[in-house]
Amino acid sequence: MKTCISSMLSLAYFLFFIFPNKASSYSNFTECLVAEHFRDVTTYDVVYTPVNTSFNSLLQSRIQNLRFLSASTPKPLAIVTPKDESHLQIGYSCAYEFSVQIRIRGGGHDSEGLSYTSAVPFVIFDFISAGSMLMLKMALPGIAQKNRTIGFPGSTWPSVGMGGFLSGGGYGSLMRKYGLGADNVVDIQFMNKNGNIYIGRSSIGEDLFWAIRGGTASSYGVVLSWKIKLVPRTLEQNATQLVHKYQTFAAKTDRNLYIRAKITPVNLTPEVRNKTVLVSFQSLFLGRANRLLKIMQKGFPELGLTKEDCHEMSWIKSTLWFAGDVGFPKGESLNLLMNRDLAPKLYFKAKTDYVEEPISVKGLEGMWKRLMQQEEGAAELLMIPYGGKMDKFTESAIPFPHRAGNLYMLYQGVYWNENTTVSIQKKSLKWLRSLSKYLTPHVSKNPRRSYVNFNDLDLGVSNKSYEEASSWGTRYFKNNFKRLVQVKNDIDPQDIFHHEQSIPLFPSIS
Ligand SMILES: Cc1cc2nc3c(=O)[nH]c(=O)nc-3n(C[C@H](O)[C@H](O)[C@H](O)COP(=O)(O)OP(=O)(O)OC[C@H]3O[C@@H](n4cnc5c(N)ncnc54)[C@H](O)[C@@H]3O)c2cc1C
Ligand SMILES: *[C@@H]1O[C@H](CO)[C@@H](O)[C@H](O)[C@H]1NC(C)=O
Ligand SMILES: *[C@@H]1O[C@H](CO)[C@@H](O)[C@H](O)[C@H]1NC(C)=O
Ligand SMILES: *[C@@H]1O[C@H](CO)[C@@H](O)[C@H](O)[C@H]1NC(C)=O
Ligand SMILES: *[C@@H]1O[C@H](CO)[C@@H](O)[C@H](O)[C@H]1NC(C)=O
Ligand SMILES: *[C@@H]1O[C@H](CO)[C@@H](O)[C@H](O)[C@H]1NC(C)=O
Ligand SMILES: *[C@@H]1O[C@H](CO)[C@@H](O)[C@H](O)[C@H]1NC(C)=O
Ligand SMILES: *[C@@H]1O[C@H](CO)[C@@H](O)[C@H](O)[C@H]1NC(C)=O
Repeated sequence: MKTCISSMLSLAYFLFFIFPNKASSYSNFTECLVAEHFRDVTTYDVVYTPVNTSFNSLLQSRIQNLRFLSASTPKPLAIVTPKDESHLQIGYSCAYEFSVQIRIRGGGHDSEGLSYTSAVPFVIFDFISAGSMLMLKMALPGIAQKNRTIGFPGSTWPSVGMGGFLSGGGYGSLMRKYGLGADNVVDIQFMNKNGNIYIGRSSIGEDLFWAIRGGTASSYGVVLSWKIKLVPRTLEQNATQLVHKYQTFAAKTDRNLYIRAKITPVNLTPEVRNKTVLVSFQSLFLGRANRLLKIMQKGFPELGLTKEDCHEMSWIKSTLWFAGDVGFPKGESLNLLMNRDLAPKLYFKAKTDYVEEPISVKGLEGMWKRLMQQEEGAAELLMIPYGGKMDKFTESAIPFPHRAGNLYMLYQGVYWNENTTVSIQKKSLKWLRSLSKYLTPHVSKNPRRSYVNFNDLDLGVSNKSYEEASSWGTRYFKNNFKRLVQVKNDIDPQDIFHHEQSIPLFPSIS
């Protein structure tokens, strides 16, 4: 057995500045931004407007959902890649003066493209290029190379940005053992609408510190850095019956064990394009293979796991293994994870649900029937097991409310590529919405719950009244929605940090 070593590492960046009070005489936002920016002769590659040749490539470089790469997707007036505090100051002041909406982009994985599109004139603050944002997997290989006994409960998708990941909760293969990424955030540096920087939990205040960890940071301001707790690390397949049993096993088993079920439509053979459903059980066990075999033999013998199915590897290498499954180039090098450009990009639309009671065999069969209406590669269901450490946090510990009582999160996605016709794209979306309707009796109710990091504008965008907004807000946050609104009232009463599903303002409920 490996020895577990617990450790804490601080990964903090420090940026300080004071928000300036400029009165200007520019005729529009672009003019303001460019002129103000070029007063500062020491910086060059910070402000990009459509006249710059690299504007489009920079914009597109982290549009991770190719649905929003089309010519009709609204484009920003400018992209600012702040290198230091003054660049944010300029961006803020010009944006306020001309009522331009600010969108904050990290890794660009937002399911609805909210970090880089808006129906109103907007500017993107792009933090990846800025180097001031700590990127999840950018940091991880570095950490793991320095010290092989520690890890961080990050994403199974290496290019996901730390900013968005932590601000919506953040699950990964270490979740059942250590909780969400956001559960392991110990401190934050935060910049509010005035450009004031708050360093540390005590200056940020408990409400805001709570809200940022899972309650959409982009509703409140810009998170400059996250201080995370690094966790001790050690190591790393009749389908309907198996999935039925899986539903209860995966959430209740040893918390060192994470088994994700991936369910996809496949052609029976390349020639016979009749569909069947392929179920893959992908697991990570923190411990040696022999112990895992014992656990599986006892709790889930039907799966018939053998030693040959297991590969012992370091935890950090296991992240490569998960990444390989989703289309990242296969390779041994940890440096691979540091190269964001290798991340495959997708055209996708996603929905999530939480399952509290195992879906019946009949229920599952209905899901398979629907999956078989889709082409191979065009749809995917994932069961992400909860339980373990996830049950140890109260629903209000951070805004992420999906804790004890959940067996798993059910992810539902549709995908297409550049050759997919518009009519098939529409059919795909319709299929997804219809599947979602089918799932209604099988998933959580009152409210039916979803994971905010796979945001879904189908749930609603209304902000007319607290009651209307609650119809989608409580799906992501349950009762925490109210407190998020209260924090919003305090922190951003002008609703400067706004997007279609940002936390709305309702001063009357404070
Ligand atoms: C292919 C794929 C795989 C995924 N896998 C996982 C997974 O395994 N586990 C999981 O938990 N989630 C997963 N997600 C969901 C992912 O966590 C969210 O989409 C997350 O919001 C992405 O963060 P980002 O920085 O890459 O995206 P962005 O689009 O850049 O940002 C998402 C949101 O966060 C805001 N934001 C980003 N940085 C900051 C900041 N510094 N300050 C304030 N606001 C900020 C943005 O404004 C936006 O509202 C996956 C998504 C995709 C597309
Ligand atoms: C790794 O981190 C642990 C916990 O902080 C520490 O005890 C150990 O000495 C470190 N190992 C190396 C090689 O730095
Ligand atoms: C902004 O104003 C400048 C100078 O008046 C003008 O040249 C430019 O076209 C304007 N840009 C936009 C986006 O309106
Ligand atoms: C964008 O174009 C302007 C005007 O040609 C130029 O001065 C500036 O250097 C360019 N910016 C970048 C980041 O290339
Ligand atoms: C499928 O599951 C049923 C019920 O558990 C079992 O009786 C049957 O033997 C299994 N079939 C196969 C091929 O494993
Ligand atoms: C494929 O589906 C068709 C129509 O449903 C059916 O007639 C045929 O027997 C199936 N072929 C195979 C190999 O299952
Ligand atoms: C799209 O079609 C082109 C031309 O037929 C082909 O080269 C390309 O591989 C296709 N792309 C995908 C993702 O199938
Ligand atoms: C509702 O959204 C609109 C724009 O979409 C925004 O201007 C307004 O401030 C929002 N209201 C609340 C209460 O958040």
